[in-house]
Amino acid sequence: MDEFDTTESAAIRRDGNDSLFHVRDRFDLADPCYLDGNSLGPASDAAVATLEHVVEEWRTLGIRGWTEGDPPWFHYGERLGDRLAPMVGANPKEVAVGNSTTVNIHTLIGTFLELADGNRIVVNELDFPTDHYAIRSQLRTRGLDPDDHLVVVESDDGRTIDEGDVLEAIDDETAIVFFPSVLYRSGQRFDLEKLTEAAHDHDAFAGFDLAHSVGAIPHELSAIDADFAVWCHYKYCNAGPGAVAGLYVNERHFGETPGLAGWWGHEKETQFDLETTYTPAHSAGAWQIGTIPIFAAAPLDGALSILEDVGIDAIREGSVARTEYLIALTDERLDEFGVSVGTPRSPDGRGGHVALEHDRAYALGNALRERGYVVDVRPPGVVRVCPSPLYVSYHEVWEFVEAVVDVLEHDRLEAVDREGVT
Ligand SMILES: Cc1ncc(COP(=O)(O)O)c(C=O)c1O
Repeated sequence: MDEFDTTESAAIRRDGNDSLFHVRDRFDLADPCYLDGNSLGPASDAAVATLEHVVEEWRTLGIRGWTEGDPPWFHYGERLGDRLAPMVGANPKEVAVGNSTTVNIHTLIGTFLELADGNRIVVNELDFPTDHYAIRSQLRTRGLDPDDHLVVVESDDGRTIDEGDVLEAIDDETAIVFFPSVLYRSGQRFDLEKLTEAAHDHDAFAGFDLAHSVGAIPHELSAIDADFAVWCHYKYCNAGPGAVAGLYVNERHFGETPGLAGWWGHEKETQFDLETTYTPAHSAGAWQIGTIPIFAAAPLDGALSILEDVGIDAIREGSVARTEYLIALTDERLDEFGVSVGTPRSPDGRGGHVALEHDRAYALGNALRERGYVVDVRPPGVVRVCPSPLYVSYHEVWEFVEAVVDVLEHDRLEAVDREGVT
């Protein structure tokens, strides 16, 4: 097979040779072509089944579900954490499921700000905004002016961050380097090992927002010696809207008091002694806060079985092949219509989606959605396209690019233009 054969028959041949082609049968895809798994992954029979299972347990067991559920709800966050650990390269007990990503940023930034010698946090200007909102508020609660203590590495091109600039921004005043694994807009991927080393060289902590990589890219959090990480499960893990989030804490920090403590993070054996003195669990479970929302956690149980069956290495391989294919087709077919690739071209330098740039991205996104190609748009001019290897075929990627050609060749944007936005 010619890697850069951009004909329709070559796309169909690729699907014929693709060992992941039938994984899509395990998903319930409501739209003809779903390219938005970087925002919200689709439902699967497995995820719906584990959700329905706990609903039924609630009906039949009531409060006994906490101890008699199959599995018992009481240890749900720890148990799912143990299953996630291999996917992020963590040791046993270093991963727990709980809270939301933003809340996990609050509690972990709070924890490590207390422990650090320095008092500045290094981030970048292309971060997803919630990271900055949470960090600024944690700085404020410690009487630290965010304008002085949040060190924001700037982008030269509005798409990417130069890792050299990040290394330069880290110094002995740094408390925490907090970085995404993959930028939410352009899809640039960072070298987490290099960032961790640089942080540790200055006695700072290294923490990561893995929202755009868990479930799409393998991680080695323990091997690179990261201090902590957070992520969500509603994107590449397909656990449903508002699914409970994940967190990693390196075992050398077990026993520290969480920035935001709550009874669900108490040592499990004595949690129901209901002492007002807080004893943290000796695991990442200590960073859970309140009662685990079982209905927001249960779909992850089923959704994970798909990721485990396919394997994170095969998922990454299928994702790199598809993003490479989409980039090649974009270069060949869409350049003349003013569509360009804003994502780094080296496979190691990008995550699971491709940023297509166009000066009327909103109108283009709307036109594509009207045709059944579900994408999303991020300002100022990016259409994000996620060809997940779990449920997007090469032929669909090919058809998607032809749909963009059709929209732009016949100037069909006018009819769908969002008022006031180009
Ligand atoms: C990098 C990143 N962090 C955090 C979030 C959202 O966090 P939460 O799940 O708390 O809404 C997103 C949402 O898309 C994200 O892209």
